[in-house]
Amino acid sequence: MEETQLDVLNGDSDIESEMQASIDSFRERSRSYSRWSPVDEGVTLAWNNLTIYAKIKKRGITNYKRIINDMSGAVKAGSLVALMGASGAGKSTLMSVLGYRNSAKLVVEGDMIINGRKIDDYMKYLSGYMHQEDMFIPYLTVLEHMTIMANLKLDRRLTRDDKRQKILNILTELGLLKCLHSKIGGTDQNKALSGGEKKRLAFATEILIDPPLLFCDEPTTGLDSYSAQKLVGIMSKMASERTTIVCTIHQPSMDIFSMFTQLILIADGRTAYIGATSKAIEFFQNLGYTCPSTYSPADYFIKILASPPGQEDSSRQTIKRICDQYAVSDYAKEIDVVVQYEFHMGRAVVPRRFELRSNFKEIHWHSKLYWLVYRWTLEVMRNPTIELTRVLQRVGTAILIGFCYFGTNPYTQNGVQSVQGVIFMLVTENTFHPMYSVLSEFPENTPIFIREYKSGLYHPATYYLSRILSMVSRVRKFVEHSRSRRFTFNTTLGNGRSQIVN
Ligand SMILES: Nc1ncnc2c1ncn2[C@@H]1O[C@H](COP(=O)(O)OP(=O)(O)OP(=O)(O)O)[C@@H](O)[C@H]1O
Ligand SMILES: [Mg+2]
Repeated sequence: MEETQLDVLNGDSDIESEMQASIDSFRERSRSYSRWSPVDEGVTLAWNNLTIYAKIKKRGITNYKRIINDMSGAVKAGSLVALMGASGAGKSTLMSVLGYRNSAKLVVEGDMIINGRKIDDYMKYLSGYMHQEDMFIPYLTVLEHMTIMANLKLDRRLTRDDKRQKILNILTELGLLKCLHSKIGGTDQNKALSGGEKKRLAFATEILIDPPLLFCDEPTTGLDSYSAQKLVGIMSKMASERTTIVCTIHQPSMDIFSMFTQLILIADGRTAYIGATSKAIEFFQNLGYTCPSTYSPADYFIKILASPPGQEDSSRQTIKRICDQYAVSDYAKEIDVVVQYEFHMGRAVVPRRFELRSNFKEIHWHSKLYWLVYRWTLEVMRNPTIELTRVLQRVGTAILIGFCYFGTNPYTQNGVQSVQGVIFMLVTENTFHPMYSVLSEFPENTPIFIREYKSGLYHPATYYLSRILSMVSRVRKFVEHSRSRRFTFNTTLGNGRSQIVN
């Protein structure tokens, strides 16, 4: 059985050997160090002596908790990397820092480079990032969400039909075509799409632009085994076409695990293993941890590296031993050569040409504004509680103020003063009320704004303006009118049949 496991991991089947061949052919294409063009040449990500602390403020005193401890590693172009470790090991933290999406609460020490160049703000254009927790506007349908995202993210020269075809291809591949007109929904009573469908939708949103570097934080959590395999299969295909994919994953089946070309195991913030997935069993075997035939290797590694309650001390000793052994192993040396080479070339050869998105035309800011207004308008129109609260607030205020001036005789001196008071009230109510209601709108969608801003989707000013415009009723009417036209189109299904999608 152990032999069978190794066979599967070594890529015995035809599909795997085919995949390996295409990955190898990509790797053989040499990378030019005089030019920096990750979109054309693929992304090699390397990090050296990376330490990450979380800032924790308690009674005015700032403490630092170390989450990642002096990690070094590299991920080559065209790799599909499984980032694994027990819950709380630091996977999401490491990934957020490598993806340049980390929160301000993290302090980062160490160096990270992409093809020899320090990672920077450009990461938002270069990489896709699928977060562990999905975040959507719940009142939109799947098609509306994808259409808005495609218009915000894709090249402005693409025609409407090209964008639609791309959306349909992705949704068909991910099995989401049947939910095309389902509301995404939120949680609890507001729930519409299932958890797994939302995960797939989040993945679909990230692969719209075919990023050369993709981070996926637990993309298969909540998915059934077939969907999970399908999703990792898509990632594997993308990797074979030169995309670099780093993916955290829990409890992968043998089939899924064997699709990953590289494995990064972390425990207590340290590296327990980085190297080929197929060699991980051998590494642990050499340390005296032989994977039992009844275990999936991935589960077995996590079992060794976990620290169950009550056994913290012995687990810490085991983890320390494994990490120390890894640090002096040939596997670590192999990775270290890549890391040092990447950093050396980054310092030695200053690229003459920087090409990030040479053949890409971003959508104009006014089009971005249109799509954002469009999105918020749909949200306002479909969320009856927003409108109802506003109407009730107005009615309540009118009754309250009306009672204050009840029975006023406008022909007396006091009456004239009261009329002045009413006019003042009318002006203040109609100015301050909308102002304050605008302010209350912002915190609700701030997390989505921060994510999308970090992904380079729009400027904060565009976002701010779009929110205000979406509250103007005339703008809303215009959007409602354009909506009926926008979502009726022909789709050609895979089997050649044609159907109308409304
Ligand atoms: N901003 C923060 N402040 C304090 N502690 C933090 C912060 N961010 C992360 N941590 C801690 O760092 C550790 C690693 O968190 P992280 O989310 O990276 O874990 P993970 O490996 O992704 O776990 P899971 O598999 O459960 O998602 C956890 O113990 C977490 O509590
Ligand atoms: Mg996590």
